[in-house]
Amino acid sequence: MIRVVGGLVVVVLASSAANAQSGPLNDAQHQGRALFNQSCRVCHTPPALNAPLYGPALSQDTQRGRDDVLAEIIAEGSPRMPGFKYQFSPDQITAIVAYLRTVPAQQSASSQPTARPVSAGERERQQREAD
Ligand code: HEC
Repeated sequence: MIRVVGGLVVVVLASSAANAQSGPLNDAQHQGRALFNQSCRVCHTPPALNAPLYGPALSQDTQRGRDDVLAEIIAEGSPRMPGFKYQFSPDQITAIVAYLRTVPAQQSASSQPTARPVSAGERERQQREAD
């Protein structure tokens, strides 16, 4: 089970200084949303209103609220989803889980007004910047 609450705060504070935005999310959730937008929304959010999702919509109800299971899926992946354990630190995965826990079930993590699909090249660039 991946849960590094103390360490998370330090990491998140360091990275959110460059990336400050006001909003209802705390720092960890905010970082998680940024990571989600970079790496997950390409599959977990609909590219257009009537387009099918490649992966299921994610929300606070995903895996019935079991944060440890959620973190493990993100780290290890699944038959149709790549794992992220080499790409993200445990703290970053914890932040994504924290963000997903803020997403109401009927709304999916996708439906933010700024939503747009990110191209593969752009995603790579963002990830390099996020490192
Ligand atoms: C290449 C497409 C793809 C990417 C990128 C991707 N996923 Fe997935 N994800 C899937 C698919 C497809 C499934 C459905 C499981 C399956 O069929 O293997 C899934 C399943 C999941 C589940 C389980 C959902 C459930 O209801 O149990 C979680 C949680 C999840 N993904 C989180 C994430 C997170 C967080 C990221 C970003 C770090 C991410 N995924 C990136 C395709 C993707």
